[in-house]
Amino acid sequence: TDGRIAGISAAIRVIPDFPKPGILFQDITTLLLDPKAFKDTIDLFVERYKDKDISVVAGIEARGFIFGPPIALAIGAKFVPIRKPNKLPGEVISEEYSLEYGTDKMEMHVGAVQAGERALVIDDLIATGGTLCAAISLLERVGVQVVECACVIELADLKGRDRLGDRPLFVLVSSI
Ligand code: PRP
Ligand code: MG
Repeated sequence: TDGRIAGISAAIRVIPDFPKPGILFQDITTLLLDPKAFKDTIDLFVERYKDKDISVVAGIEARGFIFGPPIALAIGAKFVPIRKPNKLPGEVISEEYSLEYGTDKMEMHVGAVQAGERALVIDDLIATGGTLCAAISLLERVGVQVVECACVIELADLKGRDRLGDRPLFVLVSSI
């Protein structure tokens, strides 16, 4: 396997009992403190997506805003932010998704993407998959093809991947 993955994995800090007792929090801020590991992260995504005819990189607030833009710039795609409710100033479409307790929403600007475009969806981590599903729905509702979803980390035990149906998911680090 690619030797860069080990360095990326080692740069992610795991913090027990955050934000609640029993949760092992995967902290990517320590990855950002390591320029080699951060660059390797971006490079691995760029190598995978540069020749895939992708015109849209959609990044999910908040931590998808860290990894998405450098990938978009490197592959010559536009960056589209998918945001928590009431943050985007223009006309939006929104999609509800379920949390452990209750629901939340994700929003995208109308007109940011056109039907027929090919998109990559980026976030830092997939847990239950609810967040990525909402982002996929927003794009597909306006006729965009989601070529793949990509995350730095997958919490594999939560089986979020199964919720994505036939949209491929690519991750660098799989964790429990
Ligand atoms: C975290 C993480 C993903 C999402 C994954 O974000 O950054 O976006 O949860 O969970 P899921 O697969 O179960 O939907 P969070 O909602 O904590 O917000 P943040 O990125 O703004 O900190
Ligand atoms: Mg997030």
